[in-house]
Amino acid sequence: MFGKKKSTPQIDKEQLALIKYAEKRIKQKKRVYIHFVIFLIGAVFLILANTVLGIGKDVTIAGLNWFVIAIVIWLAFFIYHFISVFITHKFMGKDWEDQQRESLVAKQQERIDKLTQQFLKEETEIAKSKAYNLAQETKAHPQKKKSELTIIVAAGENNAIGKDNDLIWHLSDDLKRFKSLTNGHHIIMGRKTFESFPKPLPNRTHIVITRQEAYKAPDGVIVVNNLEDALDAARSDAQPFIIGGGEIYKQSIAIADKIEITRVHHEFPNADTFFPKIDLTKWHEVYAKFHPKDDKHAYAFTFLTYIKH
Ligand SMILES: NC(=O)c1ccc[n+]([C@@H]2O[C@H](COP(=O)([O-])OP(=O)(O)OC[C@H]3O[C@@H](n4cnc5c(N)ncnc54)[C@H](OP(=O)(O)O)[C@@H]3O)[C@@H](O)[C@H]2O)c1
Repeated sequence: MFGKKKSTPQIDKEQLALIKYAEKRIKQKKRVYIHFVIFLIGAVFLILANTVLGIGKDVTIAGLNWFVIAIVIWLAFFIYHFISVFITHKFMGKDWEDQQRESLVAKQQERIDKLTQQFLKEETEIAKSKAYNLAQETKAHPQKKKSELTIIVAAGENNAIGKDNDLIWHLSDDLKRFKSLTNGHHIIMGRKTFESFPKPLPNRTHIVITRQEAYKAPDGVIVVNNLEDALDAARSDAQPFIIGGGEIYKQSIAIADKIEITRVHHEFPNADTFFPKIDLTKWHEVYAKFHPKDDKHAYAFTFLTYIKH
């Protein structure tokens, strides 16, 4: 419960380093002193060895007795020792080392700062260029970036969507959903689908695709000669709809962003028009709502939403 309190060191690291350094200096100085004493004793010994004991009495080098040469060499060593401890060390000692280290660290820091500045500059340039490219792309293909091209369709289990240019079923709740989803939007369709309507649907902008140059349509209906022009005509819409039929679905599924499909739970073997198979490696289901068969609906069906991976 009352565990031993850890003892906090009384001196910090810096003080410890200073003490160690001082000890080292004392040892160095002591060694110089001992060296000096040994040198004096050694010199006396060499002189006595030659003059008293007669060792190498006749040996001379460049006219000088050998012991004089030996003492001079030893003196040179001693002077070198003395200088390295008291003079060189003063200039190249701990302070000098610290100074060198500090200046090296400062230089490294300066280099790091420069690299950081350069990196930030490059990052800013990259970000600017990305923003510029995005702006250019949006300018060039406004419908591509801003809008969500949605396919809306009702298809049987065998992907049947129509027969003799008409629908094969009448499912009022599906029509209600179609109306509510497409209300106020641009609806893009093939000429045949357009002609299957008794009259244009209210509160929607119709875009009809036909290869006929002189195709006549009621006022307010936009007529175009290809899918690209249809998308261009709907570029102000955040969610234009492709509403069929089979030919237009086939051409647009690759560029669509979303599919709102009503899967009618029945096979329709007599159909003559079909929706393309949904490639589940490219699309994934994000919504499903089942509607049972009842008095008003001859078939059960499920509202499904797919978006591209
Ligand atoms: N179940 C559903 O949700 C649903 C929805 C819509 C329609 N449908 C059904 O689908 C059937 C109609 O589909 P469909 O495939 O026969 O016809 P469609 O796709 O509605 O229209 C085909 C026509 O569109 C024009 N067209 C197609 N591609 C074109 C292109 N690249 N450039 C210019 N024009 C092009 C051509 O018109 P021109 O011949 O005038 O050149 C072509 O004949 C009907 O049975 C309809 O009831 C079902």
